[in-house]
Amino acid sequence: MKAIILAAGKGTRLYPVTLTMPKPLLPVANKALIKYAIETLTNMGATEIGLVVHSLESPIRQALGDGLATVGVPLTYIEQTNPRGLAHAVKVAQPFLGDEPFLMYLGDNIFQDSMKTLTTRFRETGAGAAIALTEVPDPTRFGIAELEGDRIKRLVEKPKDPPSNLAIAGVYVFQPAIFDAIDHIKPSWRNELEITDAIQYLLDQGHSVIPYIVEGWWIDAGNADSIILANQLVLEQLPYSPGPQTDSRIQGDSAVSHRVILGENTQIINSVIRGPAIIGDNVTIRDSYIGPYTAIGDDVVIEGSEIEHSIVMCHCSIRNIPGRIDASLIAENAHVSRTKAKPVTNRLILAENSVVQL
Ligand code: DAU
Repeated sequence: MKAIILAAGKGTRLYPVTLTMPKPLLPVANKALIKYAIETLTNMGATEIGLVVHSLESPIRQALGDGLATVGVPLTYIEQTNPRGLAHAVKVAQPFLGDEPFLMYLGDNIFQDSMKTLTTRFRETGAGAAIALTEVPDPTRFGIAELEGDRIKRLVEKPKDPPSNLAIAGVYVFQPAIFDAIDHIKPSWRNELEITDAIQYLLDQGHSVIPYIVEGWWIDAGNADSIILANQLVLEQLPYSPGPQTDSRIQGDSAVSHRVILGENTQIINSVIRGPAIIGDNVTIRDSYIGPYTAIGDDVVIEGSEIEHSIVMCHCSIRNIPGRIDASLIAENAHVSRTKAKPVTNRLILAENSVVQL
């Protein structure tokens, strides 16, 4: 079965981080967000995946290539230069998808559920579509489903007056009838061709659309807080591994707890690491504390500092910071330090939309 991942958004709520790195490449527990999407889709039965990207020059293509060596499934890149809605993205992908049922996944979503039974139920019932649903506290922000028994009766995108709190989560299975449905819908109030409206058209035409209630957590990782939360939830799932007793990477007066993954050529010197945490390759941690739910990328130096519940991407350095760094997202090549030079000042070189809380 073919699948598409929609990854053509601008990620504006994650500026400045996404000015240079598209959201689907942001690391969650040191693995790109889009790799979780690819894993879920292959679990659901995808054998070929089309990535809808803003440009064929996308860094996503540079990172994943044809997919075979990087993620073990063939990838095709589909350009959507002007993202005009999820249904528009499906239309752009139609030549790739052909005339067969297909899976669709929103590239910034991440699930605990493997979602296998979603495809099984879709195949068994011969429905026009199947969609993943999950309860949310704030239904006005999502596409919302109204159920009648175990069938979907009505769908509405970002309703002012929500008929339920069951949100459309970012995984769908479609029959090719969805292409005709997309041809019949008009742009919404936000001037987008909404896939929710196209699925409503299927319902209006008498197709059945079956719901699948997602098990466990689901994150729509649109902003920094949700990326940090996704990092926490994935790290929470790390299986038990004992704290290393003797390990040449751990030196001096150090203590490394259980559920800590240490990369190659990494050195922990006079430091405390408490899991669950993941630390990449070629990292030096000296005179520091790394607390739970922290992911540190490759080639990072942390000295004289404390950090927890945070993501530090590759090639960063953090030196001699007073107070604990918490709930932070530090993008590649960022350098944070305290100098002893007088006068004692704060010196900031920040990109647009940076957030600093001192
Ligand atoms: O996150 C779940 C929600 O996703 C659903 O509940 C809604 O029904 C659905 O419409 C969608 O709403 P959002 O407003 O959150 O979608 P967003 O614009 O954030 O786009 C989701 C992903 O699709 C994102 O990774 C960017 C990508 N995208 C988006 C558009 C509009 C494209 O690839 N092409 C597009 O044209």
